[in-house]
Amino acid sequence: ALERTFSIIKPDATRRNLTGKINARFEEAGLRIVAQRRIWMTQAQAETFYGVHKERPFFNSLVAFMTSGPVVVQVLEGEGAIARNREIMGATNPANAAAGTIRKDFAESVEANSVHGSDSPENAAIEIAYFFAGHELVG
Ligand code: CMP
Repeated sequence: ALERTFSIIKPDATRRNLTGKINARFEEAGLRIVAQRRIWMTQAQAETFYGVHKERPFFNSLVAFMTSGPVVVQVLEGEGAIARNREIMGATNPANAAAGTIRKDFAESVEANSVHGSDSPENAAIEIAYFFAGHELVG
């Protein structure tokens, strides 16, 4: 089915001017960027966005990292977009990511792993609505 997933190009990637290269990976995989905005997340935004991880030992460091520079928040649309995006991102830890994936090729560490992508349709809907109004999604 045609799906939408939420994506973030993280501060480690914007700092190294990788936005275009990462967007090319999405487009080459058949994902359409139907909404996109460059922002500097506030601490409150990052804490709320990653709220499910707040008991994890890496939470404070993750929030500090995600507010350390600009990010690009985006909505990707395509057939099976959620799973497709997870395939091309690769494993969370770049050390475990398959060859040719975004994280294998670009990520610096398990934290500075260049991209975020929704893990389920339910979370995709929540994450998209957190950053975008319906009228900003232009298929
Ligand atoms: P993301 O897919 O955005 O979801 C949670 C983020 O926490 C993850 O990518 C990483 O950036 C970060 N993180 C840092 N340490 C870990 C860890 N040990 N396991 C999972 N995620 C981690």
